Amino acid sequence: MTAADAVIYGASELVIGPAAGTTDGSHPGADGSPADPDDVLERIEDGAVAIANGEVVAVGPTDDIVATYPPEDAAEAIDASGKTVLPGFVDSHTHAVFAGDRSDEFAAKLRGKPYQDILEEGGGILRTVRACRDASDAELLELLLKRLDTMLSFGATTVEVKSGYGLDTETERRLLEVVGRAAEAHPVRVIPTFMGAHAVPEDESTADYVDQVIEDQLPAVAEHAVFCDIFCEEDVFSVEDSRRVLTAGREHGLEPKIHAEEFAHLGGSQLAAELNAVSADHLLQATDSDAAAIADSDVTPALLPGTAFALGTEYAEPRQFLAAGSEVAVATDFNPNCYAPGMEFALTLACVGMGLSPAEAVRAGTYGGGLALGAPRSEIDRVPTGCGTLREGAPGDLLVLDAPSHAHVPYRFDESVVERALIGGEPAYRSRAGTEVDR
Ligand code: NIG
Ligand code: FE
Repeated sequence: MTAADAVIYGASELVIGPAAGTTDGSHPGADGSPADPDDVLERIEDGAVAIANGEVVAVGPTDDIVATYPPEDAAEAIDASGKTVLPGFVDSHTHAVFAGDRSDEFAAKLRGKPYQDILEEGGGILRTVRACRDASDAELLELLLKRLDTMLSFGATTVEVKSGYGLDTETERRLLEVVGRAAEAHPVRVIPTFMGAHAVPEDESTADYVDQVIEDQLPAVAEHAVFCDIFCEEDVFSVEDSRRVLTAGREHGLEPKIHAEEFAHLGGSQLAAELNAVSADHLLQATDSDAAAIADSDVTPALLPGTAFALGTEYAEPRQFLAAGSEVAVATDFNPNCYAPGMEFALTLACVGMGLSPAEAVRAGTYGGGLALGAPRSEIDRVPTGCGTLREGAPGDLLVLDAPSHAHVPYRFDESVVERALIGGEPAYRSRAGTEVDR
């Protein structure tokens, strides 16, 4: 017998990761209809998982696991009978470090004002930029930590956070330093992305600003980030701007990501394939040939249904990417335009808005998210291999759900089923027990 740091046992359903043989380019659901749980997920009934030194050391039937790793010898032993155990959600796309308030833009959008008109008038991203430049580091950190608490309570154990509300060297660096401090202070694994090319600052030309991002910002911020991202969009940054910024980012050790084909079809997904970016995100306007190019590369298409929900637009089409042979990720895109911090709701929208089955949505929010953060790529060491699964050697990041199956995550769309979260085998979150109601 061996002691583990944490043993979680007796789970009604334990989701280990993608079903065997389904990660090689022929994905379940590729034929156009929502796939069955057993075709999508490797699951066991009455399952257990043991974690030592932060990593999964054994996963399987409870009887087998507890014989080797007795719960009574573990620092953390959880009886998960009647409950579901899942890998922690991997939120691969957020803009969670920001200050200010844009709630009035929500009302304006409801009156029919387009997102891009708001941006062109100095609102939107540019308004958040003004608020971030005026905010202190302490304010930004407090806001981010509170948001990470919320995101964790909805099951995210890994969260990517982009800069991009500074748009000058000093503020971009400050935002990424704040993200770094949050990563140290918070149990969630926080993965920083530099996105100086998020918008063109007021009174600057795009060409000059792209030069500034490459020549001034990148050298000053590269040590604080893992990825470099850009908003490749009509009236924002062109494909050529994006190629220059992402190539320069890579020269500074930052692997590329790209906001592509969100409002207009510009060609960002073909560029992502050309550069072998880690992910191409949004993709609402992507074509079948874009999907084919992405599938021929190592790029993970990351779909953000919350954005379509907030903007009242059509959703991205996940089957287009599955049929081409890609694994899809689903993430929140939490930002002031899409105030949606929870992965659970993102997965609900992935089902209701984009037609994924609950099992497909869970796979996209766990394993898919890990791919969209480059988990299998050796050059990206901040994101542990196996992130988004509970296979041996994966990080000990898991959720215990107060629900009998994974399907309850998207099914219950206005309540959280996350009862506990462990990160690296350490308790990181526990939901409030009971309520305060007298009855
Ligand atoms: O991914 N599209 C660009 N960036 C964000 C929105 C940021 C904002 O509006 O503040 C996005 O949706
Ligand atoms: Fe975004």
